[in-house]
Amino acid sequence: MTSVPRKALLRALAGEVLPRPAWWLMRQAGRYLPEYRELRSRVGDFLELCLTPPLAAEATMQPVRRFGMDAAIIFSDILLVPYALGRSVVYREGEGPLLEPIESSAELHSLERQAVLQCLEPVFETVRRVARALDPETALIGFSGAPWTLAAYMVEGAASRDFCRVKAWAYRDPAGFGALIGIVTEAAIAFLSGQIEAGAEAVQIFDSWAGVLPADAFERWVIEPTAQIVAAVKRRHPQHPIIGYPRGGGVLYECYVEETGVDAIACDTALPPRYARERLQQRLPVQGNLDPVMLLAGEEALSEPVEQLWRILGKGPYIFNLGHGVLAQTPPEAVAALARLLRNLAPAE
Ligand code: CP3
Repeated sequence: MTSVPRKALLRALAGEVLPRPAWWLMRQAGRYLPEYRELRSRVGDFLELCLTPPLAAEATMQPVRRFGMDAAIIFSDILLVPYALGRSVVYREGEGPLLEPIESSAELHSLERQAVLQCLEPVFETVRRVARALDPETALIGFSGAPWTLAAYMVEGAASRDFCRVKAWAYRDPAGFGALIGIVTEAAIAFLSGQIEAGAEAVQIFDSWAGVLPADAFERWVIEPTAQIVAAVKRRHPQHPIIGYPRGGGVLYECYVEETGVDAIACDTALPPRYARERLQQRLPVQGNLDPVMLLAGEEALSEPVEQLWRILGKGPYIFNLGHGVLAQTPPEAVAALARLLRNLAPAE
């Protein structure tokens, strides 16, 4: 029997040190790609694109086909979870999403917990399609928003400058807010497990607004629910690695790593790579964290920061990525240049 070499991304997630970094980019599909804009123009809205499996599968494949990343990430959105819980979610052109805000715990009974899996079934079908279509070297990543970030969108109704409403609710009425977090946690567990059962080989938990909380609240609303998700998903799927992304977590990254049980840690743009090497990579594989704006700075400016990340993090288990998502104004040629740079890196020494 010939053994199939494992995919580079899965090897890195299992703790192997690779001669060249495995890589993918958060938000690697999307508006910076002309072929995505063409696909997007064929549907009425973004939700329809996410919930139409042949189109979502195509959007998933586009960046991988063009640039040869080591992983595809399923094309959907973190706000499909609030949508599946029965909230209205509208994506406004160029302005970000708008949700019908939840004002208090009295409204929690209206969340449709029973319908979640059925509502997300098109995403699972997308996963099945992409799993069949991917070449054998490319891994497939599923994802969910983390409960804190999802609750923040659900309470604020949109991205927010100061997160006053959601934070004030959490501080004033932790039991009531905890009930919302509990419902979202349960939905995130179902969403992630469903994607794994459909063929996702690893999953990432996006906590994009983790960094707005003080330490005690970070413990309670970021770490605790994430630990519950990790435990529940691992009970069902112990072999599937889970990547955590507590954006803006700063020095709390260490507590997050210790206490949540994630298998790998995605570093945001602000986290010093040396901190990641010394305090995180000893324990688990590190992913990240080139500033997405570097892709707007020209090919010349790109090589030094990429090589520097590799020098600092390449001696341990490492996955190259950005510290946040690809920006819509990124020239596709910059991503092509990045792909070339990564292919030509010499083994870290
Ligand atoms: O390529 C991929 O990474 C897979 C698909 C993906 C999308 N959103 C598609 C998308 C992923 C992983 C996400 C995650 C996501 N969505 C996050 C976490 C990551 C982060 O950026 O912090 C968040 C906070 C969201 C919520 C969201 N969705 C916002 C704020 C917006 C509007 C702003 C923006 O960047 O466009 C979206 C819309 C969205 N999600 C688009 C895409 C491709 C653009 C929709 C369009 O075509 O108009």
